[in-house]
Amino acid sequence: MTASTSYIGVLDSGIGGLSVLRQIHHLLPNHPTLYFADQAHLPYGPRPAAETRAYVTAITRFLLERGAAVIVLACNAASAASLYNLREKYPNVPFVGMEPAVKPAAAATRTGVIGVLTTRTTANGALYQHTLERHAGRARVLTQIAPELVMIAESGSANTPENRDIIRRYIEPLVEAGADQIVLACTHFPFLSETIQDIAGPGVELVDPAPAVARQVARVWPNGLTPTPAPNEYFTSGSPAAFQAMLKRLTGIEALIGYYHTG
Ligand code: DGL
Repeated sequence: MTASTSYIGVLDSGIGGLSVLRQIHHLLPNHPTLYFADQAHLPYGPRPAAETRAYVTAITRFLLERGAAVIVLACNAASAASLYNLREKYPNVPFVGMEPAVKPAAAATRTGVIGVLTTRTTANGALYQHTLERHAGRARVLTQIAPELVMIAESGSANTPENRDIIRRYIEPLVEAGADQIVLACTHFPFLSETIQDIAGPGVELVDPAPAVARQVARVWPNGLTPTPAPNEYFTSGSPAAFQAMLKRLTGIEALIGYYHTG
C-alpha cells in the first residue's frame, strides 16, 4: 500500500463479491481495488446477524487502514447485518451495500410474480423489508432461502448431477408458481446463473444488481479524489491457494493473495 493511494474496498464472505468486483473493474478501470473474501467465516447467511456484523466491521477497519476511500459490501447478507450500523459508525465513509433487486424485477414482470433467491440473514433483515415495502408494488414476491447454493458456488461445480438437483429444488417451485423474474439476492448466485437459467427456462429473466451497484460506486466516489494507478489487491481469511485458483477460474485474474484473519 502507498499512503497516497485511494482504493475501492470490496468485501464478501467468499468469491460472491467477485461478481460485483468485475462490474466495478469494467466501469471504473482506473480505480485500484482491494478485495476481501472472509472464507474462514463462510457462509454468512445462516449466522446470527450480530456475528456477521462483527466480522464485517473488522474487515471494514482493515480495508480503511489499507487506503479504502469507499467500502462496497458486495454481499447481501453482510449488508443486511451491517450497512445501517457501519454508516452510523463511520459517517464520513461512503458505503455501498447490496439490496435485493426487487425494484427492476417489479418493473419488468409480466406475470406479476417475482422470485427472490437469497439467504436467511438477507431475508430476515430490515433492509429487505424496506425494499419490499418501497418497491414490490403489486407484484407477488416469493422469497426462496437457498443456503446450499452459496457453498455450491464456492465449490465451482454447479453442473454435477447432484448439485443441479439441489439447484432445481429451489428454482422449479418459483417457475411453477409463475415467476418470470428471479432476483439473485446473493452475490454468489451470478456464478450459478448458467445452470439456474437452464433450469428456469427462457421465459424467466435473472436479475443481478451488480451493474447498478458499480454505477453507485462511481456516484459516491469522493469528489476531487483522483485515483492513482496501483495493482489491485486480494485477501482471504481462508486458503490463499484455493482463493487464487477460484479467482483465476471465475475472472481470469492472476494475482498474489494475502492472508488476513479477522478473528
Ligand atoms: N455473497 C453473500 C451474499 O450476497 C453470500 C452469503 C453467505 O455467505 O451466506 O449474501
